Parts: sequence; C-alpha cells; structure tokens
Amino acid sequence: VFAHVVQAPEDPILGVTVAYNKDPSPVKVNLGVGAYRTEEGKPLVLNVVRRAEQLLVNDRSRVKEYLPITGLADFNKLSAKLIFGSDSPALQENRVTTVQCLSGTGSLRVGAEFLAKHYHQHTIYIPQPTWGNHPKVFTLAGLSVKTYRYYDPATRGLNFQGLLEDLGSAPLGAIVLLHACAHNPTGVDPTLEQWEQIRQLMRSKALLPFFDSAYQGFASGSLDADAQSVRMFAADGGELLAAQSYAKNMGLYGERVGALSIVCKSANVAAKVESQLKLVIRPMYSSPPIHGASIVATILKDSGMYHEWTIELKAMADRIISMRHQLFDALRARGTPGDWSHIIKQIGMFTFTGLNTEQVAFMTKEYHIYMTSDGRISMAGLRSRTVPHLADAIHAAVTQ
Ligand code: LMR
Repeated sequence: VFAHVVQAPEDPILGVTVAYNKDPSPVKVNLGVGAYRTEEGKPLVLNVVRRAEQLLVNDRSRVKEYLPITGLADFNKLSAKLIFGSDSPALQENRVTTVQCLSGTGSLRVGAEFLAKHYHQHTIYIPQPTWGNHPKVFTLAGLSVKTYRYYDPATRGLNFQGLLEDLGSAPLGAIVLLHACAHNPTGVDPTLEQWEQIRQLMRSKALLPFFDSAYQGFASGSLDADAQSVRMFAADGGELLAAQSYAKNMGLYGERVGALSIVCKSANVAAKVESQLKLVIRPMYSSPPIHGASIVATILKDSGMYHEWTIELKAMADRIISMRHQLFDALRARGTPGDWSHIIKQIGMFTFTGLNTEQVAFMTKEYHIYMTSDGRISMAGLRSRTVPHLADAIHAAVTQ
C-alpha cells in the first residue's frame, strides 16, 4: 500500500549534516547546521548545564510524572521574565500566557495552530530570506505564507525601505514573523531606531507580531540587549506572540526546550487563550518533556548559576566573533576579489556569504566544505585550524 510513496528530499539544513557524515574525507568541515562547536570542533555542554543536571540527579524527591499540558510552571514564568524583562508591565498585569513547547520549532507550530484556529487573519508575512523551516511550519498549521523584503544582496544589509513598503501594503491585521535578533540566515538585524519605525507601522495597521527568538544572547552577548525588539513591542501594551528556544543559548539542542508566550490585552483574555493552547497541545504530544525544562529552570532561578550562564554564553558569542575576524583576515591575505566586510559586520551564528549555489557546490565537491546552498556559513562550526581551508575554498570558488 505504500509502494507509490516517493523518496522525499533531505531537509535543506539538516540534510547538510547527513551528506557531511557520509563523506570519508579527513579535511571535511560542517558549516551547515547552526550548532555551536568548540575551538576543538566538539559540541559543547555548558558547565552550568552539567551543574544543574547534577543537582537534578542528586535530588531524590524528583519524579518522572507527566508535566501539565502547559509544561513546567517555574520554567514558563522564568522564560517569560527572560524575554520580556523582570519589570515588564505585561507580566505584572498577568496578561501573558507562556507554555513550554518543543524548542523553537514546536513553539512556532503551537502558536501558528492557535492563530489558524482563533485569529481572524490567516496570512503571515515572513522575511525574505528566512529560516528554511518557517514557511513549512506555518503552511502546515493552516496559515497562508507571504514574504516581505528584508535583505538587500547589493549592500549585504537590510532592505529597510522594501521592508516598510511590504509591511505597509500588508492587509490589516496580518501576522508578521520577526526574528527577535541575529536574523537567520542573514545575520542582519534592524537598528533600534528601525525597530521603532517597524513597531509604529505595524501597530498603525494592527499587524500582529510573532517573534522568533532563537538566539537571545548570541547577537550582542547580552540577554537583555538581544530582547530589546520584543520588549519594545510588549511595552506599547499591544498583543504579540514570542517563540523562544534554548537550543543555542544554553546548548540544549537535543533536549528540545522552548516556550511560546502570547501577550494579551487582559489577564482574563490570557487565561482563555491558555485554555485554548492546551487544546492545541494535548492532541499533538500531550505534554512536554521534563528534563530540559528542569535544567533551564534550575539555572534561571539561581542568581549564581544565571551569572555563570551569561559568562559561558558570552564566551560562545566571542569565539564566533573571533572566527569572523580570522576568516575576514584570511580572505584579505589571499587577495580574494570582493568586499568581505559583511563577514565581520553580520551578527549571530551565521555569515550570509553571498556565494551562489554553484560556488557552494564547488566548495563541497572540491574542498569538502558543507554549508547550505544559499551560501550561509555557520560560523559556530569554524575553528582557527579550519579557517585557512575555508578561505582557500572561498578564494577558489570566486576566482574559478
Ligand atoms: C539552523 O538554522 O541551522 C538551526 O536553526 C537548526 C535547524 O533546526 O535548522
């Protein structure tokens, strides 16, 4: 009965790792998926995470009961505080409902399913380009996806005029997906002044913001600074959705821990919204897993551990910045044609190199460099040792 099923293509991002794993070359480098590696090229478990896990293991009172449908209450409260700030009026007025979800993807999906069921507008505008999974998540949830201009290949920066025009002509009430910081894949964010203009425009047209916050702490190295865009929108008293992921900033990739928050007009509305979120979650996966959320809650509620986390997070962000400078210098040293200053200007985990599909294919074939076909490099996968090899590959790709 399944003989008609056709072979599906690999995922454009996760499939890069599949191809990398198959390559026997000793010089291969995986710069595909956005996952942090140490200078030794190893995945990193933060010390503070290990410490939290030890505390959890030693606590014999802990059990493996089901969590409530909405997840671990402490985790939800602390996650909302992390993104909205401890002095957030919306939190003080109990206008926010937060539910624990399966990392960023799960939070986006639950939010999108809720909107498809309970929000009058089913059109969501996503930036062009955006994370490859966004259109799939929203389409499968029943929303209709449109794009707004975001990136300007000519300047390798923000197409702010295009963004304002496209959001300005969006239908009243449309949903708009915004990357809270460290835009994936471009590494290009609006300035705070531009965010303020975006906010004014969106509020004037009742456009509903849906923030994807997957890199809090990775853009500036400061958790508070990286939440400014979200806090600006929350401060004006209007509604918004925010999806948070702890995959990158706490290195909890495989624990699948994240949160969806919906800021409402009143505590009464927030309670009703939460009751409906439970109806979305229960038939999907009943309730979220307990371990990852317990790690996060343990760290967030202890000021010492929280501080330790910020230091380890900053160290990850700083290593990525150092990789940017090393790659930029290596290209300059080779006299590689082109202006590569965007490598040091872009922020977060990725460099959107401007290399085209053919050049990427060439680098994979000839140099065993694995990256997404849109020319995105995960700087977090780079090491001082592999910089010269990557620079050689880029140089050859643009001069071939
Ligand atoms: C990425 O963009 O590489 C990450 O967000 C990982 C993923 O799930 O795609």
